Amino acid sequence: MGSLSGRRIVLGVTGSIAAYKSAHVVRELVKSGAEVRVVMTPGAKEFITPLTLGTLSGHPVHSELTEDRNAGTWTDHVELGLWGDVILVAPVTAHTMAGMAEGRGDNLLLTVLLSAKCPVVIAPAMDRDMFTHAATAHNMDTLRERGVHIIDPDTGELASGLSGKGRMAEPERIRTELTQWFTDRMPLLGYHALITSGPTHEPIDAVRFIGNRSSGRQGSAIALELARRGMSVDFISGPSAFQTDHPGIRRVDVGTALEMQDAARAALESTPPDTIVGTAAVADFRPSSPREGKASKSELPDQLALTRNPDILADLNAHAPTACFKVGFALAHGDGKEAALRKLKAKLCDMVVLNSITDKGAGFGHTTNRVDFVHGPDRIDSFELKTKEAVAADLADVIQHRLSARPPLAPRQDD
Ligand SMILES: Cc1cc2nc3c(=O)[nH]c(=O)nc-3n(C[C@H](O)[C@H](O)[C@H](O)COP(=O)(O)O)c2cc1C
Repeated sequence: MGSLSGRRIVLGVTGSIAAYKSAHVVRELVKSGAEVRVVMTPGAKEFITPLTLGTLSGHPVHSELTEDRNAGTWTDHVELGLWGDVILVAPVTAHTMAGMAEGRGDNLLLTVLLSAKCPVVIAPAMDRDMFTHAATAHNMDTLRERGVHIIDPDTGELASGLSGKGRMAEPERIRTELTQWFTDRMPLLGYHALITSGPTHEPIDAVRFIGNRSSGRQGSAIALELARRGMSVDFISGPSAFQTDHPGIRRVDVGTALEMQDAARAALESTPPDTIVGTAAVADFRPSSPREGKASKSELPDQLALTRNPDILADLNAHAPTACFKVGFALAHGDGKEAALRKLKAKLCDMVVLNSITDKGAGFGHTTNRVDFVHGPDRIDSFELKTKEAVAADLADVIQHRLSARPPLAPRQDD
């Protein structure tokens, strides 16, 4: 996907003479298939009307923190920040950059920028001497260090009559740079993943359970890595302390295998996934008759009757679209390649990530992992011991390679 098609862009417009060009910026973005919502600073309205930008974007323009003072309504800046795949501020004034660098929230755009979780791109526009001023240079360095992408202004004739650097990049260049930036930063935008993660806890009574030592660290790292690359992720997690705080991740916390199966099935039915990654260490058995409340020691039987839990990954894979790239995880004791190859077939996986508890530093309870990607008997890629985040990046590379050859299975949803 090399264009801006389907990208959600919050366009911030500030009080620069170049604000008239923001009309062309909106047109360029909309023409490329992006959805655009405009937020103007009060200063920007001195230069271009909300009516112009609202008409071109096809959506109401927001500029005030409160919408209707008498009715007590306010503009939901948090929602706007969560909606966007990116916030583009074009033009951005020296004043707004200073506000961003200092973390001020004295107008709607600054509060959207403060509460946004998505990345930010800015296109500065100002007079040569403002642009080269030490304060502006310092603010730009601060923003760059925080990950803000800056579209370099052009050099040439300026509105002040001076000549030099400070003219906002032309709208066509802003569109091209933004497209390239998306391709580099979010190559998987529009694609959807379903991930199961963590252990399951199968109750014996209200306080005791059968479980395993999975922490959920590897699954969480994979969810975050895929979301960072632009995927929307349904993340079904057993009990785990690891956070997966990202606007692209819809997390459902479950306790038991049956709850995990229900939640994963519901997710599968609501959005066909482009990939399923089954990292969960699902308990193989559950107590057949869990007790209500806490049983006293004397009430507990010497032997527990157990029932076999469903195979969640095999079930999901059987119901997933054929084009979905299906990844399972296998934890072996010793060399588990034969077992991984059997699992690949039995669970209808396209690839199994094999890790072994006998490899030093790998498996449950470690921050590192050593894995093999088992594609089939003729292709097993072995990796060094590395952090679970680095393993997640290796897996994301494989997923990206497989998915980039075809469009996403489902159109994006507004949720
Ligand atoms: C005619 C005129 C043109 C201006 N052009 C710029 C500009 O290109 N860049 C800039 O940083 N400030 C410019 N300013 C100053 C800003 O409008 C001013 O700093 C304002 O407070 C910016 O507010 P905002 O960043 O909240 O929109 C201009 C002011 C006027 C009167």
